[in-house]
Amino acid sequence: MVSRKYSTYQEELESLLRRFGIGGETAFYVLAYHYFICYKDRLEIPNDVIEKWHNAYQNIENEGRILLFLDELVLNDPNGHALADWYQFFIGQRFREASGKFFTPKPIAHAMARMLPPTPNAIVMDPTCGSSTFLMELAQLWGDYPCTLVANDIEASLVELSMLTLDLATPLQYQKHFICSDIYSPSHDLQHWYNKVDYILANPPFSLQIGYEQFNSPLFTSGYRNSDALFIDVAAQLLKPSGRLVCILPHSIIANKEFTDFRTIVEQSLTLLGVVSLPEGVFYLSAGTTTHTDIVILEKTPPTESQKHFFAATPSVGVRLSGNEEQALQNHLESLLANTSVRAALRI
Ligand SMILES: C[S@@+](CC[C@H](N)C(=O)[O-])C[C@H]1O[C@@H](n2cnc3c(N)ncnc32)[C@H](O)[C@@H]1O
Repeated sequence: MVSRKYSTYQEELESLLRRFGIGGETAFYVLAYHYFICYKDRLEIPNDVIEKWHNAYQNIENEGRILLFLDELVLNDPNGHALADWYQFFIGQRFREASGKFFTPKPIAHAMARMLPPTPNAIVMDPTCGSSTFLMELAQLWGDYPCTLVANDIEASLVELSMLTLDLATPLQYQKHFICSDIYSPSHDLQHWYNKVDYILANPPFSLQIGYEQFNSPLFTSGYRNSDALFIDVAAQLLKPSGRLVCILPHSIIANKEFTDFRTIVEQSLTLLGVVSLPEGVFYLSAGTTTHTDIVILEKTPPTESQKHFFAATPSVGVRLSGNEEQALQNHLESLLANTSVRAALRI
């Protein structure tokens, strides 16, 4: 959640840039280029992207007042934590309204990253990465543990944002790969990771109808032609044997009778480790959606009788459900992850 002081900064920069006819995407490029100038040594951004940002920046590069303002913002954010908020501020309205896309609140992303046991040299992927909140949270938890992060999104500007956020927030020894592909029509770059990924963290688009006629995957060919089904099929292909998927899915998939066959098909190739029901309305302020959702944890192992799993409900996860809650919010995900049987099921 953006603090009052921070939102004042945002409005001030918006009004400074507006005098030069700069707004929306172009305003974000100006800011991105200033991050690039300040942290060049830590960033590996492709030349064509830098050129695009620089073209926007040329309009203000002699404007001392704006440059001082940008310096103050950017030098106070060496790990790029504010970038996702800036993206949402300048581009987010179009982004959300046009497509129902949004970023996962940090307390939820943090808890999901904790559901992965740290493993040396693991390959961790978010196939619908947005600003890469999940991968940043994972890097914060794993610290200097060496690993490979793979970030994919259908939207090029989000892949570019992820290049900035991940380069700034992760230790130098992390390897990073960025892909811009539609997961429902995977490019060769995405298919390259089939059967290689140890862990997937994701919050994919919910319950969109998919128009593709042909998609040769178990749930799709069984008649489940929506984005949730295709996402699980693609995730199962990406995971290597024993790999783990921690993702957010609509609660209806877990609870409703019409999805009984869906669940049976999923459990033929993936083993359920746990389900955490999130409070209704948890994405209302960030995304305007009231969809009731769950965190679902699945592992690519043959089902065994001895595998323990858990079901839990969280009344509060440290995220405001409406604009007028004043009290400090509890985060029940933290106590859930301290529970011994949950830790045993997740092997963390
Ligand atoms: C709910 S947002 C989650 C973003 C990010 N993982 C997070 O948790 O903050 C879903 C993301 O999926 C991306 N997306 C939507 N359709 C996609 C597709 N067909 N292929 C790849 N990414 C897609 C959107 O651009 C958006 O960034």
